[in-house]
Amino acid sequence: MTEKIRIETTGAPPATGTYSQAIRHGNLLFVTGQTGRNPKTSRLEDGLEAQTRRVLSNIGAVLSAAGCSPRDILKATLILADMRDFKQVDSLYVDWLPEDRKVCHPARTVLQAPLPHGALVMLEVIAGYPVTPFLDPREKIFEYFALQLGERNWRGKDVLDFGGNVGALLQDPAATIDEERYWCMEIIKEAVDLGRKLYPRAHWVFYDKYNFFFNPHGDPSLKIPDCGGQKFDVIAAYSVFTNNNQADMLDMVPQLVDMLKPEGVLAFTFIDPHHHSHSEWHEDGGPSNLRWRLEKARREGTDVDVEGTLARARGARWCILVNDRDLYVDTHEIAAYAPEDQKTFHIFYTSEYMAELIPDAEILPPVNNELHHCCLLRRRTE
Ligand SMILES: C[S@@+](CC[C@H](N)C(=O)[O-])C[C@H]1O[C@@H](n2cnc3c(N)ncnc32)[C@H](O)[C@@H]1O
Repeated sequence: MTEKIRIETTGAPPATGTYSQAIRHGNLLFVTGQTGRNPKTSRLEDGLEAQTRRVLSNIGAVLSAAGCSPRDILKATLILADMRDFKQVDSLYVDWLPEDRKVCHPARTVLQAPLPHGALVMLEVIAGYPVTPFLDPREKIFEYFALQLGERNWRGKDVLDFGGNVGALLQDPAATIDEERYWCMEIIKEAVDLGRKLYPRAHWVFYDKYNFFFNPHGDPSLKIPDCGGQKFDVIAAYSVFTNNNQADMLDMVPQLVDMLKPEGVLAFTFIDPHHHSHSEWHEDGGPSNLRWRLEKARREGTDVDVEGTLARARGARWCILVNDRDLYVDTHEIAAYAPEDQKTFHIFYTSEYMAELIPDAEILPPVNNELHHCCLLRRRTE
């Protein structure tokens, strides 16, 4: 995720000039220098102590609006109108930091400089998002579906990003989706919480459904929440059924179709193990998708027999690669893994087999240098 996301909150004075309160870029958050202005009155508080407390609460409000907290501060720049105030400001700042940061303080620079409107103290910070696994959607998801659907203008459409993580479709700079009409349904609770902070006007639904590695403690039989009866023009699921078992996919697809408006469309992706999706990058046609996955796993340190695994997958209509190493071919029967050993689950379908599984689907080849094929299902009015 490399898009720049502007953070806005009424918990701190609004950005009134040519700047933002904060900008998120990837896993870093850059917070503009805050002075001791009260966000309600826009006036500076009286005196050094009140101004410093207000600076800290303003910084805290911006961090919180962006899904961070003072615990996540990596670097602080403290600017004082008078360096003689340092001791008092420093003690308030250290008190404000959470306990664990009183041992491992953020990096810091302290400067003396004239401050706007006679402010006595200013603080700016850079924070790093807590490293939570799986909170990192890919870019260009909107672009992919816009190409597959042949429709770039999604304004006015009600859109469900099924398995959209922290807002994958909306985060694509190319997206033309109204935030108010965007819904994201996710099985990772932290993704829903962070997404809601990043896009407060959108709708966020936690779906506590079992998944081999994204939600191993979820409920395997839970049906999809009906979103209060909301129906959708587009339901998109990028790289979601690639990580769910076949029975769950076949159970969820009709439920999603039922959530479409008349003439609405469900678009979801899958990966064909034998397709050479990256052929345009390679003069020799490039690796098959399964070879690509196995070679990636090996580069990242998994001890996997690439050639032996590919030989076993030859002719497979579908297969599952568990923990980047254990291959199951044309079978639902996979070994039992303890939750802590449930690392990855990649399921592959040939396009022919997907067409047999979902006969009403229109199946489209990958676009935009992606690995994924696309399945389109429309809700027809009789
Ligand atoms: C590989 S990630 C893709 C995320 C996002 N769609 C993207 O393309 O960047 C798969 C996402 O689907 C979510 N997911 C998996 N199974 C799901 C299910 N049954 N319902 C909703 N979300 C699901 C996961 O939690 C995860 O965020």
